[in-house]
Amino acid sequence: MYKRQIFNGPGKTLNELENAIKLDIHCINVDSFYELKLLDSIAERLKTKVKVSLRIVPEIISPILRTGISTSKFGFEKNEIIKAYRLALNLKGIEIKGIHAHFGSQISDINTWINGSKALVNIANKIYDELGLELEHVNIGGGLPVDYTKNLVTTHYEIPEYFKPDFNEDDVAKVIAESFKDLNFASSLYIEPGRRIIADSGILLTRIVNFKERSFNEKWLIVDAGFNVLLSSRVLQWYYPILNISKISEKHDTAFRIGGPLCDAHDVYHDLEGEEKKKPKLPKHRFLPKSSSPGDLLAMLHVGAYGPEIMMNFNGMLKPPIVMISKDSNVKIIRRGDRIEDLVMYEEF
Ligand SMILES: Cc1ncc(COP(=O)(O)O)c(C=O)c1O
Repeated sequence: MYKRQIFNGPGKTLNELENAIKLDIHCINVDSFYELKLLDSIAERLKTKVKVSLRIVPEIISPILRTGISTSKFGFEKNEIIKAYRLALNLKGIEIKGIHAHFGSQISDINTWINGSKALVNIANKIYDELGLELEHVNIGGGLPVDYTKNLVTTHYEIPEYFKPDFNEDDVAKVIAESFKDLNFASSLYIEPGRRIIADSGILLTRIVNFKERSFNEKWLIVDAGFNVLLSSRVLQWYYPILNISKISEKHDTAFRIGGPLCDAHDVYHDLEGEEKKKPKLPKHRFLPKSSSPGDLLAMLHVGAYGPEIMMNFNGMLKPPIVMISKDSNVKIIRRGDRIEDLVMYEEF
């Protein structure tokens, strides 16, 4: 099971690294010179070799999550790459396996895939030319966009341009394959899609608990799930279509601002900061039936990726239960909802 695992991240602890080495995982993605030398010293102590891939930032910009540029906290800068591989070659405890980069999330611009894959191939070729190293794998990371226009529910909802990629995963595969034709040696291509695979498996049900109308005619619906449940809506600003399932047959034609229950002005389902800068990533309003009111149940779609693991108890909120509906319509609670006592479960007095 561990043989297929890659351990990645900018802040791995000594303990974690030792465990990964002992489990003989597929490889560790090294994030800095410090970590490379640390791994070598652990390898010497454990009398083994550590299989590594170096994470690099090829200066590829993605509009959401800029993980492929040197102003981010990740990996080796372009001008450090040869030095890092040379060092890795000279360290007795290190066995080089590959190279890794991850450009961002919801990469809906095909040019990012074209430029990113070309950049990785060029860098791998440079390593081959200068150090004679044939990397066993080239890992292009994740970030395949979720297509919110697929399997559209008939009800109207607005989809921001950025969340409507005009290509699919086959096109991404094609452009990557095209770039890899220029690789001067044989290597395996790794790709790490996350959200694209799992996002549409999840629906969040949330209830409208409050309503207000501002003097300037803006209608607000406050729901019982905020960024305590969907942190990604605040931090990553992923878009989640919203439907009123209590009134699913009514026309979704009235503009509402939607907010969560938390005592934070940013606990909303639009992009406040972006609106101030006149470049919002998310739609200002959501269109729901005019009669939407407290008690109605709303469904937020495409929440299946990362959601459950980044829910939290901020503001003393209870995490909701998670229900799994299998293909044969079996319904099963796979995580019970928090109880009030869970909030103090780990405290000691
Ligand atoms: C290194 C790496 N690979 C793959 C992924 C998956 O990305 P996504 O879910 O956007 O496809 C992530 C997400 O943060 C990541 O950091």
